Amino acid sequence: MGISKKLYIETYGCQMNVSDSEIVGAIMKENDFDITFDKKEADVIFINTCSIRDNAEQRIRKRLLEFHSLKKQNKNLIIGILGCMAERLKEQLLEEEKIVDIIAGPDAYRHLPQLLASLKSGQKAIDVMLSLEETYADINPIKYDSNGITAFISIMRGCENFCSYCVVPYTRGKERSRNAETIINEAKELFERGYREITLLGQNVNSYICQNDGNSINFAKLLEEVALINPLLRVRFATSHPKDISDELIYTIAKYENICKSIHLPVQSGSNRILELMNRKYTREYYMSRVDAIKRIIPECAISTDIIAGFCSENDEDQNDTLSLMEWVKYDFVYMFNYSERPNTAAAKKYKDDVPENVKIKRLQQIIDKQQKLSMESNLKDVGKVYKVLVENISKRSAEHLAGRNSQNKMVVFPKKQFKLGDYVQVIIKKCTAATLIGEIAE
Ligand code: 5AD
Ligand code: SF4
Repeated sequence: MGISKKLYIETYGCQMNVSDSEIVGAIMKENDFDITFDKKEADVIFINTCSIRDNAEQRIRKRLLEFHSLKKQNKNLIIGILGCMAERLKEQLLEEEKIVDIIAGPDAYRHLPQLLASLKSGQKAIDVMLSLEETYADINPIKYDSNGITAFISIMRGCENFCSYCVVPYTRGKERSRNAETIINEAKELFERGYREITLLGQNVNSYICQNDGNSINFAKLLEEVALINPLLRVRFATSHPKDISDELIYTIAKYENICKSIHLPVQSGSNRILELMNRKYTREYYMSRVDAIKRIIPECAISTDIIAGFCSENDEDQNDTLSLMEWVKYDFVYMFNYSERPNTAAAKKYKDDVPENVKIKRLQQIIDKQQKLSMESNLKDVGKVYKVLVENISKRSAEHLAGRNSQNKMVVFPKKQFKLGDYVQVIIKKCTAATLIGEIAE
């Protein structure tokens, strides 16, 4: 038997990319590669990239500069760019970044071993074909960088929503759902290996649909099947598009204790005019009606969102609509971004990126300040309540404390006592910051 080669993987961007890197790890392991965490001993370095905002791409380019010296030390070192940036830039990236040997788009990971084998001295390899079918359904991802308790399972790939600002439909291609049986089997196996929380991932999980022997399984049904594996297995999911979050799904979440009471519902803007320009396909009023439905059916449900500040032509009135919507929903958590124009998207072609940088920054800061206040208010309401927390890690601040999340996806820190990772612990909340609940063991 030959000696395994060493692969170092670095992952940028979304949870989907974390899941993809685990798939890449599995494919490479089948081909005699072992994962290393020390890039100095690597034979191959893969960088799984993100194109969602320009600053994500700039960060990766800076990182490539740092890899120059590694390549000087080891002339045989192979560097591959995977994922969204590979797909967006294609050959151009090989010309611009001389140290890169391989370019592989999100649907080309099965070909990585052949791409590696095809490299001859000085030659490069590229595969950026997108697929209509690839879901990597049969691949058992390797959890090489895991706490052993929480895991992602990717249930679908691609996106066809074409929000005008977004590069994802171009980098990840057509939407396709993975076969339900393979998802459920992967979740069962993870549970048996000690995992206690699964997050089902897709760009738009609400449109999941699997046709099987005349039966069709939608997302609500899939979620239910995963929840039924074992009451001790928690289930989360991301991301939902507001346009198709159904009552059926909300009732399913309500029905099972182990489906977490936390819904990520990206709104992007509170202004109808901007939502229209963004091609979001819903209005502020429709969004509010879905939030009303969630709060009516699951009163304890946490709601989080994504907001973009400074989209094309956005004015102060639009910004105020966003701030007032935040106040109305009372979000528990928000991811907030400045608008970043992405080449070839509909917005880049049709609209002017005309909000000055300083105005974008000012508006983003207003959104951050508003959310800081809302998060604090939301957390203060939890003081005195008892929550079931899944222990995920030792607290970063103290070895005597554990950290985990409640069903609402809030981070809870509490004394370690006799508990260990993977336990469920009843914790009474004693105090909080805007980001964390701090508690004691209940009982
Ligand atoms: N500029 C800024 N933010 C963006 N997002 C997507 N595209 C862009 C862009 N061009 C944000 C959206 C999305 C999240 C994943 O990233 O809020 O929901
Ligand atoms: Fe993920 Fe989108 Fe970034 Fe691609 S561009 S890695 S899909 S966040």
